[in-house]
Amino acid sequence: MKPRGLLTLAMAAQVVVTAVALVASYAVASGFGIAQLVALLASAAVAVLLARLCARSIELSQDKGIAMQLAEQAQTRADSAQMTQAVIKTALDAFVQTDETGIVLEWSLQAEALTGWSRQEAIGADVVDLLIAEPLRAGFRQRMMRLLPELSDTPIGIRFEASLRHRNGDEILIEASSAVLRLGSRTMINNFVKDVTQKRAAEEQLIQSQKMDAIGQLTGGIAHEFNNMLTVITGTIEILADAVKDDPPLATITKLISEAADRGAALTSSLLSFARKQALLPAEIDVNELLEELAKLLLATFDKKIEIVTKLDGKIWLAFADRGQLSSALLNLAINARDAMSDGGKLTLTTRNVVFGVREAVAVGAGYAGDYVEIEIADNGTGMPQAIVERIFDPFFSTKEVGKGTGLGLSMVFGFVKQSGGGIKVSSAEGRGTTFMIYLPKAESSTLRPTGYDQRKVVGGTETILCVEDDRDVRQYVTVQLKSLGYKVLPAANATEALAIAAEGTPFDLLFTDIVMAGGINGRELAEQMVAARPSLRVLFTSGYAYDSPHAQSRATAGAPLLTKPYRKAELARMLRRSLDTAVDSVGDPIPTPYSVQAEAEGFLRKQSSDDSAATRSRK
Ligand SMILES: Nc1ncnc2c1ncn2[C@@H]1O[C@H](COP(=O)(O)OP(=O)(O)OP(=O)(O)O)[C@@H](O)[C@H]1O
Ligand SMILES: [Mg+2]
Repeated sequence: MKPRGLLTLAMAAQVVVTAVALVASYAVASGFGIAQLVALLASAAVAVLLARLCARSIELSQDKGIAMQLAEQAQTRADSAQMTQAVIKTALDAFVQTDETGIVLEWSLQAEALTGWSRQEAIGADVVDLLIAEPLRAGFRQRMMRLLPELSDTPIGIRFEASLRHRNGDEILIEASSAVLRLGSRTMINNFVKDVTQKRAAEEQLIQSQKMDAIGQLTGGIAHEFNNMLTVITGTIEILADAVKDDPPLATITKLISEAADRGAALTSSLLSFARKQALLPAEIDVNELLEELAKLLLATFDKKIEIVTKLDGKIWLAFADRGQLSSALLNLAINARDAMSDGGKLTLTTRNVVFGVREAVAVGAGYAGDYVEIEIADNGTGMPQAIVERIFDPFFSTKEVGKGTGLGLSMVFGFVKQSGGGIKVSSAEGRGTTFMIYLPKAESSTLRPTGYDQRKVVGGTETILCVEDDRDVRQYVTVQLKSLGYKVLPAANATEALAIAAEGTPFDLLFTDIVMAGGINGRELAEQMVAARPSLRVLFTSGYAYDSPHAQSRATAGAPLLTKPYRKAELARMLRRSLDTAVDSVGDPIPTPYSVQAEAEGFLRKQSSDDSAATRSRK
């Protein structure tokens, strides 16, 4: 019962008791005497008793109310703590709570995963000692001290980025949101920390790629046209040189033209390379063998003050890349290293196998998570400040004197590695040196290995070649060259013409086609259509410009060789023989005898069957 009800009841009871006592005593004594006095006293005693009873019960009920209130408050507090713990536990970001001096009070599971330090190790430790590299600690503490008053004034907290150190020494880039919490005299700083290393690396790679793409669009088209012109010059100049070889002044001029054309070809090739439009011919490469060759070359040409060391993994996988381009990329890196060690130093060439998860692959800008062959080129030269490291892959960025460096070296390396589906990473410390790491995809299957042709000897042939080239001048030039090598030529200005020739049943042994052609069908599609109809057909591609990546090729023409423009007669001759004489396809299966023979055999079979049916008919 409520206290107010009790009181009313008690007072009513007292009135009743007093009235009854008075009436009774009056009736007994018929007047006011001792009996009434006794009755009044009894009523007073009852009233006091009731009042005390009421007071006691009020006290009791009040105590109970307070106890219940306290229990409710405790429950609310427990619920709220539980909810906070659940929020911390399920948050994707790591939670770190410190006091105002940086001593860790709370450390979530995600914080363990992010930093490598367990909760047990972290609690009670100084957060700066735990997560900041030694040389940066003092600066970081100063920054924290400056942030603290700002944090106290802002109830919603502050967001900032910082570079932390994982327990294993790796650098982690984080984004933190911090807020101050005051509980009585205690001050706590709550931090939610997010790992943005991967995101930043991906963004940087994307910006770099977009920049390269934009320049690629511009240069790629120009270089394509330029290459066609150069093909005519470099090809025909040999004929001229031959004609004027007995006239020294004219012979000198032809030599000058030839050299200028070669320089033009080299520049076009650099432009295409950084634009990732280089016509690449990837194949399996033993990178150890390549690095041993490079080391020999460097030993012979570099100053003796530079020591050259190789650390090659004996169990290195085969890489899948263009051998020629890889050689020049490595040479570029070695030359840069030499330039950074003008007073001498050590150049170390290392190879190792690496398996990348998504995080590592993204960090180096590699195409996908998986197996890669790593080539490391390390020098202990001047090194670079961060501001320069950020720009080294930019085309035409050079710190070298005018005339000493074009600034295209590293952009070419970058373009080549990315076009090959690989990645590149650089680490540099001023005064201590620079390390470049190149990651190339591991070769998946055995691909055609070039057979050992003598590079210098020009060998022709008598086979028939269907030559598809949309540029009139180049087509004329190639036709002349092919004829001079002894081949029969069927020229076609585009894929439609070529398909018409094939449809007529004209026999030919090899399809020699440009990849990039005006009109609907490009060289690759043409080759695919023809190979589908004639699996024995040999194909040789030519291009000054690669639109598609090697990975995008279909299996039918995947192993077909590619002759990059501009080319000389000797290269054309060598590639033709290589294609015509190869007896196995890209996966090592034997290819049937060339098409013209096959066509003759088919013709023979057709004749046979028509003779047979004629005979059958005549027998009827
Ligand atoms: N190993 C290295 N050590 C120090 N700095 C380097 C190193 N490699 C490259 N650099 C810096 O990067 C810049 C760009 O290099 P890149 O190879 O692209 O051009 P370059 O060497 O200046 O000219 P090019 O290669 O066209 O002759 C260099 O000028 C140099 O400042
Ligand atoms: Mg260079």
